Amino acid sequence: MATGRPGSALLAITTKPRRAILRLALLVLAGLLGALAVGALRRAPPARHRPAKWERPWARVRNPARDRLEATREVLALLDARPGASVADVGAGAGYFTFKLAAVVGPAGRVTAVDIDPEMVAFVARFARSHGLNNVEARVVPEGSPGLDAGRYDAVLLSEVYNFWQGEEPAARRTLRALAASLKPGGRLVLFQTDVATCAWHERWREHNCEGMEPSQLVGLAREVGLGPLAVRRYDLNDPHHQDRTRPGFLLAFTTADRAPTTPETRPLRETYAPW
Ligand SMILES: C[S@@+](CC[C@H](N)C(=O)[O-])C[C@H]1O[C@@H](n2cnc3c(N)ncnc32)[C@H](O)[C@@H]1O
Repeated sequence: MATGRPGSALLAITTKPRRAILRLALLVLAGLLGALAVGALRRAPPARHRPAKWERPWARVRNPARDRLEATREVLALLDARPGASVADVGAGAGYFTFKLAAVVGPAGRVTAVDIDPEMVAFVARFARSHGLNNVEARVVPEGSPGLDAGRYDAVLLSEVYNFWQGEEPAARRTLRALAASLKPGGRLVLFQTDVATCAWHERWREHNCEGMEPSQLVGLAREVGLGPLAVRRYDLNDPHHQDRTRPGFLLAFTTADRAPTTPETRPLRETYAPW
């Protein structure tokens, strides 16, 4: 005796192939979607580089670990900038020293930040504008010339501008001559370099001679262009970021020859970098 409802056998026969067709269709769809996704991934642009904190310009301006370094205080002390002074920061980068100097010289003074990198110059100009610092001027300069007016500055700083000192002597002499000419009588030039070998890992400077120059070589060249040394310091920074520390850095201060002491103050400066 038949127990099922009439037509149920027919229904069973017709739903099975329907399910099979549905499953097949789903499989084909999944395959198509998978292929589309793979294609899209292949065409997708590379993921955007997210700069690490230390790579971001604002982190380079506000850098508490750098503020704590004795060398930072020494650089500022040796520049001897006073309220109303005219100061140049050559190779200013994001303006770490520019903005410290702007606070020192005050509204009656002026800080000129120059750099070959238009992005850095734009950053400095924007930062100055947004903080109401009318005493900061930022300019792009060509590589190979500090681009400073003659006889205009009380103090000029070059901090961590490796490539000026990685080339050959004639180029360094030319730079020093231009820097000397930019100073007022009795003006000061400060050259600061944590670690000359750092240039070796920076792509832009790979083609340069990363050996760099010895401080004594620079002092000799400076004398040739009318600058006398005030302070000569070999700088040893124990910093885990600097892998190749074959050549320590230096902190050199000069003034125009007529105001320079007969012997410079000479002592080593050693410290350890403590990241923030
Ligand atoms: C390592 S950063 C130092 C920035 C800043 N002085 C500081 O101590 O934080 C070096 C800067 O020097 C700039 N620079 C390199 N060669 C230069 C040149 N020939 N004239 C001016 N700027 C230069 C680079 O573009 C970069 O912004």
